[in-house]
Amino acid sequence: MAELRYEKLADDFAGLIASGVLRAGERLPSVRRLAQERRVSISTAVQALRQLEMRGLVEARPQSGFFVRARPQALVAAAMPAPPDAPVTVDLNQRLIGVLEANQRPDVAPLGAALPAPSLLPVSALHRRYASVARRFPTLLEGSSHTDINDPQLVRQLVRRSLAWGGPLAPEEIVITNSCTEALHLCLRAVTRPGDTVAVESPGYYVMLQLLESLGLKALEIPTEPETGIALPALDLATRDGKVAAVLLVPNASNPLGSVMPDAGKKKLAQLMAARKVPVIEDDIYGDLCYAAQRPWPIKAFDKAGNVMLCASFSKCLSPALRCGFVAAGKYRAAVGVQKMLVSGGTNPITQRVLAEALEAGAYERQVRGLRRRFEVQVEQTIAAVMRHFPAGTRIARPRGGFVLWVELPEGIDTARLWRKAIADNIAFVPGDLFSPSGLYRNCLRLNCGNPWSEAIEAAVRRLGELAGRANQA
Ligand SMILES: Cc1ncc(COP(=O)(O)O)c(C=O)c1O
Repeated sequence: MAELRYEKLADDFAGLIASGVLRAGERLPSVRRLAQERRVSISTAVQALRQLEMRGLVEARPQSGFFVRARPQALVAAAMPAPPDAPVTVDLNQRLIGVLEANQRPDVAPLGAALPAPSLLPVSALHRRYASVARRFPTLLEGSSHTDINDPQLVRQLVRRSLAWGGPLAPEEIVITNSCTEALHLCLRAVTRPGDTVAVESPGYYVMLQLLESLGLKALEIPTEPETGIALPALDLATRDGKVAAVLLVPNASNPLGSVMPDAGKKKLAQLMAARKVPVIEDDIYGDLCYAAQRPWPIKAFDKAGNVMLCASFSKCLSPALRCGFVAAGKYRAAVGVQKMLVSGGTNPITQRVLAEALEAGAYERQVRGLRRRFEVQVEQTIAAVMRHFPAGTRIARPRGGFVLWVELPEGIDTARLWRKAIADNIAFVPGDLFSPSGLYRNCLRLNCGNPWSEAIEAAVRRLGELAGRANQA
């Protein structure tokens, strides 16, 4: 999709602000001057300025024009607290289910679950594709799904797509699954036994912790850096004595920090874990939604030993309702395939063909390109609103992709208690301690930024800030 002129203009100014050429409080050129100097129409200049305002980078002052907003002082969350160095039993399921169910009520401001707004998803196009595939391939409803797990057309498209990030994947290593969660589940079942220890990021995605709990596995929390993800020296130490059965992580736009591991770290992790024979389960569900011009490579791209199982799905970019994902399981393919047959048989063949055609037609690529930009803007808007409305001392991890935001409130604010007050006011979020099996991050919370900015969302963030401010004084 060609970049629109006003977007290009807004991007140029955003770059000047990010690099410090334009500083907080400085005035931007007037609409008329901007139009003259950049040889664009007045309406393009106005749209560019409005776009910068929406991104939270500038503010309009009546009668005076647009000024660069003061950037919050500490945008990157502080170094994360040190997790315990022994594995812990996970016991989160009951509380998590309660929080997630309440967060899903229809009248609640959607700052809880990490879900894109339905309005951003290509639902009508999917309706049409389903109808067309069902009509053209009626026999897809007659197959024996327990043995025919993969649609070869979808596998071919996944292999082709992997060329964009250092692939190709091998067609034989792929297992199509019902969602990314199922892919993670199958990988864990394939390489661990109850009582084993799995190394996870801290803070880490709570469904991963739920999976460990349900499989009787222990979690060893590895510290993370807000920008670069899992701390390799800590992982190195943790995996020296052969007591870690697998590593489970989200290296691209992690949930909840939005961190992206640098290539050098990914390569080192792949080599180290292969040498120690510790299988790596990599969740790359947000890989296509990273903001950098170049899509980051997964750890899988650096793996020469077949030791990395790459999991992903179409939930974040096309629709979570598709319930379709995959794992490229390397040398664990046979073990994962057995688990797939036992756990759920095959995966809906019509959905697989719909996805194969969406990928082949380029519809997936177009959707991803549009969403990436949308989410980046929505995240910026949420950051700006949190800085406006949350108590002094609040810090935010700046995500490199995806659409969740990790917010650290002043020490002493208990976000589990704050959640009970917020949900009574119909505002959802996920309390920080649910991202740690040892109950760290009690003063943190995660906000979903998957919805287009609106007055209702601004009001919810403002109210949450007020409630947090009161909790701070209590
Ligand atoms: C890191 C991560 N993995 C997996 C999922 C779930 O994906 P799916 O709907 O395909 O199971 C999510 C959703 O929030 C996620 O954040």
